[in-house]
Amino acid sequence: MIDVNISQGFVSAPIPDGIDLAVEIKRLKKEKNAAILAHYYQNGAIQDIADFVGDSLALAQWAAQTDADILVMCGVHFMGETAKILCPDKKVLVPDINAGCSLADSCNAEDFARFIEQHPGYKVVSYVNTSAAVKALTDVVVTSTNARQIIESFSPDEKIIFGPDRNLGNYINSVTGRNMLLWDGACHVHEQFSVEKIVELKKKYPEAEVLAHPECKKPVLVLADKVGSTAALLKHAMKSDKNIFIVVTESGILHEMKKNCPDKTFIPAPPADSTCACNECNYMRLNTMEKLYNTLLYELPEIKVEKELADKAIRPIERMLEISKKLGL
Ligand code: 13P
Ligand code: SF4
Repeated sequence: MIDVNISQGFVSAPIPDGIDLAVEIKRLKKEKNAAILAHYYQNGAIQDIADFVGDSLALAQWAAQTDADILVMCGVHFMGETAKILCPDKKVLVPDINAGCSLADSCNAEDFARFIEQHPGYKVVSYVNTSAAVKALTDVVVTSTNARQIIESFSPDEKIIFGPDRNLGNYINSVTGRNMLLWDGACHVHEQFSVEKIVELKKKYPEAEVLAHPECKKPVLVLADKVGSTAALLKHAMKSDKNIFIVVTESGILHEMKKNCPDKTFIPAPPADSTCACNECNYMRLNTMEKLYNTLLYELPEIKVEKELADKAIRPIERMLEISKKLGL
């Protein structure tokens, strides 16, 4: 393999003039027995070329069962890390290693360990949007698709610490009647949605259903007809007899919604400050077709997880996958 510069966190080699990126990516994928996994928040071109498109749970489930030699995770760092932990013998690549997550960053492993120590006797449940080091401190990992059911699978008197998303945690507390102790973290994209602007849209489109991700704040969730993970919101839009939807999550999901429901109308909810495009996750959007092409070509940058850490972090992830399988999720 020739020397390439990845000092910026992605391969910065120039793209040859005149190549068709989609054609070349497909060729490299086949040649290297690689699979491309994309989250619903990726841009449309990446979703269209991926072998698998899904939410965080589906991406982990898919990674755990594929026989590809190389996985290219088009999503954010924790998704690549989860895939690497589940498939230690595979090469797991990401188009841009800078694609982090403000929610994962809001929970530092040392601080979280101290929080757990201060509350002996609590089970620790962590959202998948966390580092491997936080997962290693956890009893069971959840995603927004299975969080409610996994929490409900604990006995009602079990004391639970839930981290890092206070909004998802509050939402699960409200629908299950639990009183989980919450870590005070949040996602900068979902916290930006504006109640006023959603109310304005509802006035303009009174027949529209509001679909919201549980990472949004409570006053936004109160306005929603359906609260759920990206996969759950997509499923709801497909089966609903309504034709207009106000979508309160990262706007990448609209690509799959429009593809599956070409006759329905999807309106992305704007953030409070509409001069910024906060309803796009700036981390997710670091991935581009150009970076994806270079990643496949040079097999860089690669996600690595220290074995000792991976051995600890895999347990709560596998526990989540086992429970999800039993629940038919
Ligand atoms: P999903 O669990 O719906 O994939 O959400 C992941 C995420 O990062 C939401 O911001
Ligand atoms: Fe993280 Fe929020 Fe981006 Fe999801 S949308 S990856 S939670 S920063």
